[in-house]
Amino acid sequence: MTIAVLDFGSQYAQLLARRVREQGVYSELFPHDAPAEAVMATKPRGFILSGGPASVYAEGAPQIPLYVLESGLPVLGVCYGMQALTHALGGVVDPAPQREYGPATLEVVRPNPLLPEGRYRVWMSHGDRVVRLPEGFVRLARTANSPIAAMGDLRRYFGVQFHPEVQHTPRGGEILRRFAVEICGAQTDWTPENIIAETVERVQAQVGEGEALAAVSGGVDSTVAAALVHRAIGGRLTAVFVDTGLLRAGEREQVEKTFRDALGARLVVVDATAEFLQALRGVTDPEAKRRIIGEKFIRIFEREAHKLGKPRFLVQGTIYPDVVESRAPDRSKAHRIKSHHNVGGLPEQMDFELVEPLRYLFKDEVRSVGEALGLPRPMVWRQPFPGPGLAVRCLGEITAERLAKLRAADAIFTQALEKAGLLRNGAQEAGAVSQAFAVLLPVKSVGVMGDRRTYQETVVLRAVTTDDFMTADWARLPADLLAEVSRRIVNEVAGINRVVYDITTKPPATIEWE
Ligand code: XMP
Repeated sequence: MTIAVLDFGSQYAQLLARRVREQGVYSELFPHDAPAEAVMATKPRGFILSGGPASVYAEGAPQIPLYVLESGLPVLGVCYGMQALTHALGGVVDPAPQREYGPATLEVVRPNPLLPEGRYRVWMSHGDRVVRLPEGFVRLARTANSPIAAMGDLRRYFGVQFHPEVQHTPRGGEILRRFAVEICGAQTDWTPENIIAETVERVQAQVGEGEALAAVSGGVDSTVAAALVHRAIGGRLTAVFVDTGLLRAGEREQVEKTFRDALGARLVVVDATAEFLQALRGVTDPEAKRRIIGEKFIRIFEREAHKLGKPRFLVQGTIYPDVVESRAPDRSKAHRIKSHHNVGGLPEQMDFELVEPLRYLFKDEVRSVGEALGLPRPMVWRQPFPGPGLAVRCLGEITAERLAKLRAADAIFTQALEKAGLLRNGAQEAGAVSQAFAVLLPVKSVGVMGDRRTYQETVVLRAVTTDDFMTADWARLPADLLAEVSRRIVNEVAGINRVVYDITTKPPATIEWE
């Protein structure tokens, strides 16, 4: 049972599904033209029609599918969704004299089941607006620029011109809850415990008595995915962790602790440090590093799979946003691996059937499930770490000695931030550092230590604040903290005599240095 969100091309469509789920009601997202059977198979209790860039009268503008109107289920149109609903039911939509973008004060003019009474802030982003209501509809609310900012027939159909899904509409969650729970009668049973129970059942049904293999990286997605499968099939899961030698301090131990100690799962640790170093010898080009690491990883994983007698199932940590972006929301198909489309980049001839326990979860839900499964908090809230690991932070040639320097400097920096409570791993609160690490430059400079002249390498400290990692600002860290980190690095890490702080935003720089 779900609230089906139909996507009419809004940048906020995923947010609609997420906000509904935050109210404890399961919601799925579908392209507006998804086959009726695929949508109805999820047993929707109601529909939300998202916003979108089109104008309802434009040629080829997406319309509300007939099955939605014929279903007899409640429908909430948001922005374009409200306009499409108006058009479909015989009302009139026109271009507004002015585009309305930004905050507005909503004034509820009639008590109704959708909107809490009163005046409150909402977020607007539209060009067209409803000018004549369909028959049987009444106006529910207005703003200064939108005489009809919300409408409804008070039984089944509702429309809002504003965006309840964005954070700038503080009461948006409450409005979506009223729609989903009070109007649609949906159950509020989407809790981490129920997600776990449902996923375990689904994995058991898929794998049966079979055996599964999981590649774990220490990242939150691969760990939670493997933990869920372990809960479902126990000892028939083998987790494989490849130590590339490109990991941060303590990472291998943390994976061992999580899998062996916390979960009691079978974990194979492959120490491939020497192999990776050998393959990377003399390589300085960033793209070449990435390619070599990707290929090497596949070969090693293949080798391990063969040793294990090639199980039929492979666990992947694919999450819902990946699924939505690939427009493949169909639940019914078992998905098989395709190496060039797959994030892990595993080869096709391995011919595994994929088990994707996180396929319907957003990142924040993956974290809640991880916590409910009892995984260690630092693992659940870990900051992002690139697949190629320290290789892309060790500029120039990668050697065991340079990696050791980088690892030591990185640990000093991140531990200082954690101790100061500044690195709230994973949390995206305003001002919190989202990602922080050290970079080793192949640049030597002159220094003086005691009475001795030194000529050694440089460490860069990089710390950024960001919501989505697409754009980022450098973190305004306290000068005292930077001073202490710098002092410790030059004193404790042999071969480093200079520490610099990166004060570049993204764009034009990237977060990583390679
Ligand atoms: P950039 O450097 O592009 O990084 O600003 C944005 C975010 O992506 C992470 N990143 C990667 N993650 N494989 C990954 O899994 C990679 O090759 C990779 N490169 C960058 C980076 O750490 C940051 O969070």
